Amino acid sequence: MTRTVYVNGEYLPETEAKVSIFDRGFLMADAVYEVTSVLDGKLIDFEGHAVRLKRSLDELGMQEACSKEELLDIHRKLVEVNGIVEGLVYLQVTRGSDGDRDFVFPDPEITKPTIVLFTQNKPGLADSPAAKKGNKIISIDDIRWGRRDIKTVQLLYPSMGKMMAKAAGADDAWLIEDGYVTEGTSNNAYLVKGGKIVTRPLSTDILHGITRKAVLRMAEEAQMEIEERLFTIDEAKEADEAFTTSASAFVMPVVEIDGVALGDGTPGPIAKRLREIYLDESRKAAI
Ligand code: PDD
Repeated sequence: MTRTVYVNGEYLPETEAKVSIFDRGFLMADAVYEVTSVLDGKLIDFEGHAVRLKRSLDELGMQEACSKEELLDIHRKLVEVNGIVEGLVYLQVTRGSDGDRDFVFPDPEITKPTIVLFTQNKPGLADSPAAKKGNKIISIDDIRWGRRDIKTVQLLYPSMGKMMAKAAGADDAWLIEDGYVTEGTSNNAYLVKGGKIVTRPLSTDILHGITRKAVLRMAEEAQMEIEERLFTIDEAKEADEAFTTSASAFVMPVVEIDGVALGDGTPGPIAKRLREIYLDESRKAAI
């Protein structure tokens, strides 16, 4: 089945969807994005993603391409026409194309944003074999720009990080700045020690994960102890367990860091429990 995608007001077969070569998303990575997961054919935490999208746009002085209600309609229509039961909806808004290349932003009155959405079909996303095994991660320097709270499409270094992890026989990488873990290449990072969940506090250093927010709320409701503070990779290696959160992998246990097994080298009880709670609660609240 040919995937139907959305580009600037039109639903098209993916082979017919086009964006200008002068689009600033393409030339300058002048674009922001969101990834929303789909379970049982419904959107998980659409509201959270819509609010963060607006914040990213505001921080960069970019226009909204359409209203929240229109965005919800587009998400739902794409999920429906593409028959997505489990998967993802990718959304990208760029500063548009003014028909040339210039470092100066184009006049927003003349140049309208580009908006693109497409679905990714991922059967088995919730019942993932990777989550049963847990991820092996390596640590690498965090050399990204200083506004990681804005969800821009500048993903070259995170992609390189995943490739470095693969080359080292691991699954993913955690990023280290000034001796402390910031986050994963495409997820937020946590350790668990003595029953306490430790994660870096929100700032411009990390993406304010939508899954992070939901998981911390659910952990609190389940009477789990949470400490938001910086932690080093050495502290993580000595932890009882570790995990990551993201819209694309929910709660993902981490079983090995830089070749050091955590606990008995299998997913820890808190990560497993949080994954269950998150999937359960999210399915109930999905729209
Ligand atoms: N990545 N940190 C980074 C750097 C991320 O790229 C992501 C998400 C997260 C988790 O945020 P959320 O819980 O809102 O998904 C944290 C998405 C899934 C991606 O790039 O595919």
